[in-house]
Amino acid sequence: MKKIGWIGLGKMGHPMALNLTEKGYTLAVFNRTTSKTAELAAAGATTPGTIAEVAQNSDIIVTMVSDDTALEAIALGPDGVFANAKSGDTFIDMSTVSPVISAKIAEQAEAKGLSYLRAPVNGTVMQAEASTLVILISGPQSAYEEHVDIFQTMGENEKIFYTGDAEQARYLKLSINMMVGVTSVMMAEALALGESGGLDWEQMIDIIRNSAVGSPVVNYKEQTLKNRDYTPAFTAKQMAKDFDLMLDAGKAGNVPLAITSLVRQNWSAMIATGRGEQDFFGYLDLLEEMSGLKK
Ligand SMILES: NC(=O)c1ccc[n+]([C@@H]2O[C@H](COP(=O)([O-])OP(=O)(O)OC[C@H]3O[C@@H](n4cnc5c(N)ncnc54)[C@H](OP(=O)(O)O)[C@@H]3O)[C@@H](O)[C@H]2O)c1
Repeated sequence: MKKIGWIGLGKMGHPMALNLTEKGYTLAVFNRTTSKTAELAAAGATTPGTIAEVAQNSDIIVTMVSDDTALEAIALGPDGVFANAKSGDTFIDMSTVSPVISAKIAEQAEAKGLSYLRAPVNGTVMQAEASTLVILISGPQSAYEEHVDIFQTMGENEKIFYTGDAEQARYLKLSINMMVGVTSVMMAEALALGESGGLDWEQMIDIIRNSAVGSPVVNYKEQTLKNRDYTPAFTAKQMAKDFDLMLDAGKAGNVPLAITSLVRQNWSAMIATGRGEQDFFGYLDLLEEMSGLKK
């Protein structure tokens, strides 16, 4: 049986690790805020007190953490994963991070004799809970083939994609999130315009969902939009972080990202008006306010 060490039990990491544990994998879990390990422990995971212990006692170490800073500290820090893993272990990172930090980790992984898979995900908390995530993978193909069962346990079988041997998955994740983020703002503008024209709110959302512009992301957000309930699955602050990663990658590759750069301003506006911890679809709330539509 594979011994998996799991680091990061946030909104996404928690349900993903829980699914693996409930489906029979042996997990040792670590989270900076230790109280978040309780449910995993009750499901049968062990809860070592340090990242070092997790790495020493696992063959595969998975991280699902906030950003570049967290990943670098956890992977490359003095008491981190790489300082404690054995040559031949596999390191899998599922967070959304920059291609730059990922390439730095790849270099260190090679020096240490670790197989490194980049495996960012599409989908949100609901899909993580239901094991229906879309998983984008790049890195050594042999490691991917050896561990594909782990991905199949967290994602939909036909939606697990191997994309290449380097940072391809990082770029694809950013490209898809770019379209998700832009969609949310476009959707807010469309709904506010319709609202100003006297449309019935729920009917308008239903018709859009079933029209040519309906898409999985529009469908996932049906209740968020109908109820104007911006409980976060993915916050405006998190989307701002991803848009910054896109813009940095665009700058590095001389790819003009005009729309991305424009929409990035909306996340600043959300953060500045106290909406940073709301779901990113909460941009609708700000736009309704700016349009004099808020009741
Ligand atoms: N939420 C989504 O819908 C979604 C969808 C796809 C991809 N993602 C990506 O997946 C990743 C995780 O997202 P999430 O929504 O689960 O985030 P989250 O709820 O904010 O959780 C972040 C996790 O990272 C840990 N962490 C942050 N900084 C750390 C540090 N310096 N050292 C150690 N641990 C640290 C947190 O520990 P504490 O509990 O101690 O704070 C927590 O476990 C992000 O890269 C995000 O962009 C999210």
